[in-house]
Amino acid sequence: MSSRRKALTGMLLSMAVAAVAFLAVTGARRAPSVALVDFGKAPHAVTPVYDAAVAPASSASIKEFHIPITHGRIEIAPGKFYEGWLFGGTVPGPVLRVNQGDRVRIVVTNESPMPHSIDFHAARIPMNDAFGPILPGQSKSFEFTAGDPGAFMVHCGTAPVLTHIMNGMYFAMIVDPAGGWGTRADKEYVLVQSEFYAQLDSANGDLVMDRHAAAEREATQVVFNGQAFQYKQHPLEVAEGDRVRFFVVNAGPNFTSDFHIVGALFDRVYPDGNPRNVLEGVQTWGIPAGGGAVFETTFEKGKSGEGMYAFVTHAFADAEKGAVGIIKVGNPGGNAMAMH
Ligand code: CU
Ligand code: CU
Repeated sequence: MSSRRKALTGMLLSMAVAAVAFLAVTGARRAPSVALVDFGKAPHAVTPVYDAAVAPASSASIKEFHIPITHGRIEIAPGKFYEGWLFGGTVPGPVLRVNQGDRVRIVVTNESPMPHSIDFHAARIPMNDAFGPILPGQSKSFEFTAGDPGAFMVHCGTAPVLTHIMNGMYFAMIVDPAGGWGTRADKEYVLVQSEFYAQLDSANGDLVMDRHAAAEREATQVVFNGQAFQYKQHPLEVAEGDRVRFFVVNAGPNFTSDFHIVGALFDRVYPDGNPRNVLEGVQTWGIPAGGGAVFETTFEKGKSGEGMYAFVTHAFADAEKGAVGIIKVGNPGGNAMAMH
């Protein structure tokens, strides 16, 4: 081989190596990234209260969630323990957050002694397969594209559905709009309203479900994020001037949530959490059982500035049963919590 041909071969070889390296880099960049969350290993934080703060969704275009179903003891009011049925070990279950257009992979494993199922309101998918029964010891996997933005309910749909929801089988799924929310929020919180219908189990002193009370809509507790009054003891804390976005899902099973903040108005409400459904200057907005909405407000100096604000369902019979919490703005003095 002449030295010229040698040089040419060497040049072609190095170009080929560079091309392969380039393909490897771009190929790696193009492969869809997968973000996996296993709620069996990393349950949602519920101590000292169910963590209402939500982190932004990852940028991975495929989101995979592993969700165990178990039966276990939960605290539905201070010192009151209830035999619940759980997604991800907590009530509500974990918060799922994805971006509009993401592919969502679900793996649910039933570690409880009876059949359950899972129903995603965010999914356009034939229910007969994806939402069908999962027998004890079995798993179900399916996937869907999160095509619609919103604050969605997820729940067990096994008959009688009233029983499965009243026992705690629900959680929130947030689908952020592809174009964003149009405003920057300083804090974001998720609040899931629900009711419990409990009676004393004479065998162990814990609470168990009262099916008759549920059928008659006679709730014993109405709660945000699974426990009565928890955010009165541990308020949501924001700074003066913060814009706050609330993702509110009403799991029911029976009541409407009339969401309201005492001392503030909502700059914007997006019924169902779709930014195309925008309402402005709203005092109270009703969320049907099985629905959701996104609320934005600003705790502005000179208006709703430093101080205490109660968030409630404005159906006060329900607020008195636990569906009331406090938002603490800045560091107000005195006892502003006495009012609600
Ligand atoms: Cu169930
Ligand atoms: Cu449903």
